[in-house]
Amino acid sequence: MERCLEFKGIEKAFPGVRALQDINFRVKGGRVLALLGENGAGKSTLLKIMSGDLRADAGTITLNGREMNFSSPNDAIRAGISVIYQERQLVPAMSVAENIFPGIPPRGALGLVAGKQLKRQAQELIDKFGLSIDPAAPVGTLSVAYQQMVEIMKAYRRDSDVIAFDEPTAPLTDAEIAILFDLIRRLKEAGKIILYVSHRLSEIFQVTDEIVVLKDGRLVAEMKTSETGEQELIRAMVGRDIGDTYAGLNRNDKIGEVLLEVSHLETDVLRDVSFTLRRGEIVGFAGLVGAGRTEVARAIFGADPVSSGEIKIEGKPVRFKTPKDAIDAGVALCPEDRKEQGLVLFRSVRDNVTMPILAKVKRGLFLDNHAEDEITIDAVKRYAIKTPTVDKIVMELSGGNQQKVILGRWTSSKMTTKILILDEPTKGIDVGTKAEVYQMVCDFAGQGIGVIFISSELTEVVNISDTIVVMHGGRVTGQMTRQEATEEKVLALAMLD
Ligand SMILES: Nc1ncnc2c1ncn2[C@@H]1O[C@H](COP(=O)(O)OP(=O)(O)OP(=O)(O)O)[C@@H](O)[C@H]1O
Ligand SMILES: [Mg+2]
Repeated sequence: MERCLEFKGIEKAFPGVRALQDINFRVKGGRVLALLGENGAGKSTLLKIMSGDLRADAGTITLNGREMNFSSPNDAIRAGISVIYQERQLVPAMSVAENIFPGIPPRGALGLVAGKQLKRQAQELIDKFGLSIDPAAPVGTLSVAYQQMVEIMKAYRRDSDVIAFDEPTAPLTDAEIAILFDLIRRLKEAGKIILYVSHRLSEIFQVTDEIVVLKDGRLVAEMKTSETGEQELIRAMVGRDIGDTYAGLNRNDKIGEVLLEVSHLETDVLRDVSFTLRRGEIVGFAGLVGAGRTEVARAIFGADPVSSGEIKIEGKPVRFKTPKDAIDAGVALCPEDRKEQGLVLFRSVRDNVTMPILAKVKRGLFLDNHAEDEITIDAVKRYAIKTPTVDKIVMELSGGNQQKVILGRWTSSKMTTKILILDEPTKGIDVGTKAEVYQMVCDFAGQGIGVIFISSELTEVVNISDTIVVMHGGRVTGQMTRQEATEEKVLALAMLD
């Protein structure tokens, strides 16, 4: 029998937001449906209802004609529905095998046998995916990309009828993305129902058959992928045209004296890294995941120990022992992993935005509630952060909006930043807001700030930066101006051995 999943009249409200309103659509087996929309449109909420993590206020979901009624995620899994979340759900201390096959604790003499079996089964799965992961390794020791692949294998081995992916490629490199797309095609051939959420439009055209667009919790468009173009999609999502993102940028053309000079920098990971950053300049760092770009940022910021080499700011040698020293000297780092290094999820938007400013004014000065609100409201406006109030806890924001809170924190107008380091600032951010982020980066440069822009999206890094530094294996493999750079040249240097 052909599989069919149907959403009827789904409604969901949170305090201050109607996250989903009257959602109706269906997907057939063997089809990949893209669920698109801006940050906060309701995509993850819909998937969480489907997976039994949230209860809808009204409406029904039917699978193969049977109405689903879940009171827990386990109910959904038993009914044949697997969702791979935007935020990973693995247990870092447990092994890869234990994470893929949860709920089978290998204990005692019998457990030893079970443990071996578990490892073998996990190994088979890992081989099937063509990955090199040790099934006995604790998941927490794997790279983010591999953790995501473990998450995908975990869902795959359940053999569910419905598999939903919520921004699966955000942490992946091109190699794993290819493996994932291959897998999706196989699932499709096996007649499964696949839901796919991503902000990368090129992926939508590569792997999906149908598209549903959500906007402010409503279904605003349904189309066939083959009959749609990129501009049409953007218009449905954003509600307006956004022309050529890069050509329309108002760039800074006043690049000044040298602000930061890094010479022969070495750490555990970095080898002989040298480059300069001038006032008003945007220096982009390109490279594959693991090339050492984040490590450069962390070394400058005083977050990782430097073993040799020199860092000079405005001609003076500096060696920050902690990030606090760096912040005091006017260096700001907007980190890559919002969960681990950035946000305090159970604190309010206001607390999260004003945190570094508070650290600065703690000695002596006093920042009153009113000033804090003002700074936060300013950030909420500039980045169009979707939140009913500044008191909302960050955990309750959508993934992309959490990312915007981080940007707001490190780019507050009240900070006296000289050097701004942005590590993957547009990860999980929708197309409309991306253009605004780019303009803001140019505006910072216009104010004389030196910006280090780290990104895995080649197009972005090549088009935003004045100078592009390419890294591979902890070394700088090339440097060029925006005028000289092409994506092919950068890619060749990024893959250099
Ligand atoms: N647990 C929650 N409590 C309160 N509000 C929530 C909760 N979860 C989501 N929301 C709100 O519901 C709306 C939809 O959020 P959702 O996470 O579904 O967006 P999304 O489309 O997945 O966005 P993104 O692209 O940023 O991931 C947002 O306004 C969000 O703040
Ligand atoms: Mg989401």
